[in-house]
Amino acid sequence: MMDHKQRKILVTGGAGFIGSHLIRLLINKYPNYHIYNLDKLTYAGNLENLTDVEKAPNYTFVKGDITDGPFIQELFGKIDFDGVIHLAAESHVDRSIENPTAFVETNVLGTVILLNAAKTAWEGKEDKLFYHVSTDEVYGSLGEEGFFTEETPYDPRSPYSSAKASSDHFVRAYYHTYGLPVIISNCSNNYGSHQFPEKLIPLFINNIKHNKALPVYGDGKYTRDWLWVVDHAKAIDLIYHSGLKGETYNIGGKNEWKNIELIHLLCDIMDEELGKPSGTSRELITYVKDRPGHDRRYAIDAEKLESKLGWKATITFKEGLRETIKWYLSNESWLNNVTSGAYKDYYNKQYHTA
Ligand code: NAD
Ligand code: DAU
Repeated sequence: MMDHKQRKILVTGGAGFIGSHLIRLLINKYPNYHIYNLDKLTYAGNLENLTDVEKAPNYTFVKGDITDGPFIQELFGKIDFDGVIHLAAESHVDRSIENPTAFVETNVLGTVILLNAAKTAWEGKEDKLFYHVSTDEVYGSLGEEGFFTEETPYDPRSPYSSAKASSDHFVRAYYHTYGLPVIISNCSNNYGSHQFPEKLIPLFINNIKHNKALPVYGDGKYTRDWLWVVDHAKAIDLIYHSGLKGETYNIGGKNEWKNIELIHLLCDIMDEELGKPSGTSRELITYVKDRPGHDRRYAIDAEKLESKLGWKATITFKEGLRETIKWYLSNESWLNNVTSGAYKDYYNKQYHTA
């Protein structure tokens, strides 16, 4: 539904993967809104993700760190935001295993600093919303059967998911304790353009391109529920405008794949797109040491979002994966830019070897 009211919305982490898709959607769909993108531009944040919209009159980029309390308080003092959509986070599980503290600082402390700023600035004001974007990983790991619902008890297993779970708890605590208007959504694995090539799909596309090994963790039978990133952005838009305050919404596309089956599909599409003989890319598959504490299976039940707000995923995985592959293959300079510099050290580390 089109909303013609003027609003100032602060999106945190808008230079990242999901944030950049959300910013693009909001700028184009709501010309009467002003969208502020607050981002620290870590290794994962890249303003090249937004070159097509950066000159829009309803867009402002603010470089800043959500863990910088005085800066955040000042920002909320200067601009009377109607809403916050909070995505800024450290997002990669493998990195959280190497350096948990960074995840506590950004994901937990950063969220609490934003909550404090919103609470102070919004005291006595109506029609505000703090929307926290979270992950299905807070629910832990499933066996062969079943789905995560909004009632599934939290059981995070990795430093990343523990930090995200903690931030979710703080958001709910501010709702119950201070009456801050909040909404949380918990989404499954996203895929699509502009994802930093440390995550499974863009990493493997990049490795195939450079004829490098494809490191499959453990037995490769871990299962993830994949959602096209634009469908996630559309869900966030819908929930922001129509969701009930104090509520949680799960987001997922009912699209489960065992890693190895997904990797086979990806290899086969890559062979077609690169004009290589069928089976060439599969030869790069290399089983390596498992991720410590690796969650076996995630699967989302998005029934609440579908039935109450009318959301549904729009694209099949095979279409979306091919589109995604084509995007990475035709955006070589983007890939080269984001994999150079500080990221190179991490990328070249032997973490993935057996
Ligand atoms: P990303 O790593 O691509 O982007 C994170 C962004 O946050 C980057 O632009 C980075 O510069 C920024 N950032 C990091 N620390 C910051 C700080 N201290 N201050 C300001 N900005 C900072 O992440 P993503 O995959 O786009 O995920 C976005 C959000 O969605 C995260 O909260 C993540 O937990 C959640 N999420 C991700 C997925 C997924 O599959 N990627 C699924 C469900 C939920
Ligand atoms: O479920 C939502 C979560 O999905 C988000 O909250 C996280 O931010 C996002 O990073 C993602 O977490 P995963 O750990 O599931 O994503 P990743 O791409 O790192 O891994 C997907 C699966 O592939 C997982 O089972 C681990 C496996 N894997 C991953 C990499 C990077 C490999 O086998 N080899 C690899 O090199």
